[in-house]
Amino acid sequence: MLKLRSLRFSAGFTIACLMVSTLFLVGCSAFKSKEEKAAERAKEAFRQSKGETKVAGNTNGNPKWKKDIDDSLTRGRNAVPGNQTASNPSGPPPRNQTTNVKIDLNAAKATTYHSVDTGGNHIALTFDDGPHPTNTPRLLDMLRERNIKATFFVVGPNARRYPEIMKRIVAEGHEIGNHTMTHGDLSKMSNTSIKNELDGCRDAIIGACGVNPRIMRAPYGALTSSQKIYIKDTWGYPNIHWSVDPEDWKRPGPSVVANRITSRTRAGGIVLVHDIHAPSVVAMPQALDGLLHKGFRFVTTSQLISLGNRTASVEETPPATEATASAAEAEAEASAIGGEPTPAVPLPSARELGGESHARIEE
Ligand code: NI
Repeated sequence: MLKLRSLRFSAGFTIACLMVSTLFLVGCSAFKSKEEKAAERAKEAFRQSKGETKVAGNTNGNPKWKKDIDDSLTRGRNAVPGNQTASNPSGPPPRNQTTNVKIDLNAAKATTYHSVDTGGNHIALTFDDGPHPTNTPRLLDMLRERNIKATFFVVGPNARRYPEIMKRIVAEGHEIGNHTMTHGDLSKMSNTSIKNELDGCRDAIIGACGVNPRIMRAPYGALTSSQKIYIKDTWGYPNIHWSVDPEDWKRPGPSVVANRITSRTRAGGIVLVHDIHAPSVVAMPQALDGLLHKGFRFVTTSQLISLGNRTASVEETPPATEATASAAEAEAEASAIGGEPTPAVPLPSARELGGESHARIEE
């Protein structure tokens, strides 16, 4: 009898437990966190961007491709909560305030810049590895609409291949930087090979648009200290690293890229993006408007350096994200109270952390 009672009790208890856990699960799925919903949307955007890229690779210049990108841009604009353009998708975007500054890189002695303390809300947005025949013109439209000046670190072969786009980049007030010929790891090259890389890209840029670049960016951020000095002495180029890397080359989806950029950018920051990747360009309206709404002023990289003679360059600071963002935060705080920027703590180099891994030059 006792046994039967205990059996009944345990059966009843099990059923009750099942009911409670079912209710709990139903409750959970009904109240998905914002992060889960954002992740789902990002996955969807990623799936869409993958499809779009596939088409782009095969039917370059095809009107259907253009329509796909248009649709994708509209989706990108409307899909994300808290996106300023979503509430008024047809309205004009915010506009960047023009900054005029005399470019003077001679006064800037650092061989590498990760960010620059300008004493203001200036930031530099940089696009690597292009120009790309369709992504870059699309991006230029977005920048023009917002009066934003950016920096394009181009590779020599693409500069040569798309001179009209290079001319447009220059005509619209953007800066061009040297990003080598082969996008190889310079830290493993001899000075003779580096000379071929940088001379070749410089000549391709001059040939395409008549501009002699004043700055360079090492692919993957990979340069030894002595190479940085060699490059500064030979070409006068400072090496431009970055303080914000949204890791767009991993294709996490446009809304993730946009959110990373808007949440991690601090005053004086240098933001790394790749205009060879269509989803990165799709991310731009949300990222640009988010940064403009936060009160940042976009300038070219040479403007940023010229604005800040107190530079925040620390060798071997990490390329990415939270660590650098908090260093920039500390720096901004120090500036606000009139102190000197807090030196960033030396951390593993870009390469150890994976750095900028986008060796593939698309199309
Ligand atoms: Ni690159």
